[in-house]
Amino acid sequence: MAMMRSVLILAVAFGMVLACGDSPVEVAAQGRAPSEGQILFNTQCALCHGRKGDLGLNGAKDLTLSIMKREEMIALVNNGKGAMMGYKTMLSKKEIEAVVDHVITLRKPA
Ligand code: HEC
Repeated sequence: MAMMRSVLILAVAFGMVLACGDSPVEVAAQGRAPSEGQILFNTQCALCHGRKGDLGLNGAKDLTLSIMKREEMIALVNNGKGAMMGYKTMLSKKEIEAVVDHVITLRKPA
């Protein structure tokens, strides 16, 4: 079990899209299959932002408190900001929209 866990952490660390995000364990825990945006977020973004968006590693902003508009977020994810790299060469336009839509679902209700 400890072995599996470290494999999972490594896969996330190296940003291997689709490697483990869709595991049956995760589906069971949530009672539904994760969306494409959630899988991308968990593999690409959770490293700094955490799966819930509030980890704040390396100066990352708490995404649950973000007031950024969808369009602004898409631009930031494309181009990066500060310590965060841009994703436009790594993800398609559609994937960036999916991941941003997932980020918006992480917000705490006002
Ligand atoms: C290497 C760590 C790192 C990774 C990986 C990362 N971010 Fe960030 N993120 C940051 C940092 C640092 C900031 C703060 C940038 C600043 O304002 O200087 C930030 C800011 C943001 C913001 C702005 C929030 C606000 O209201 O100001 C959004 C949205 C965001 N990240 C989304 C994402 C998404 C989506 C991904 C994955 C595709 C991602 N981040 C991956 C470090 C990271």
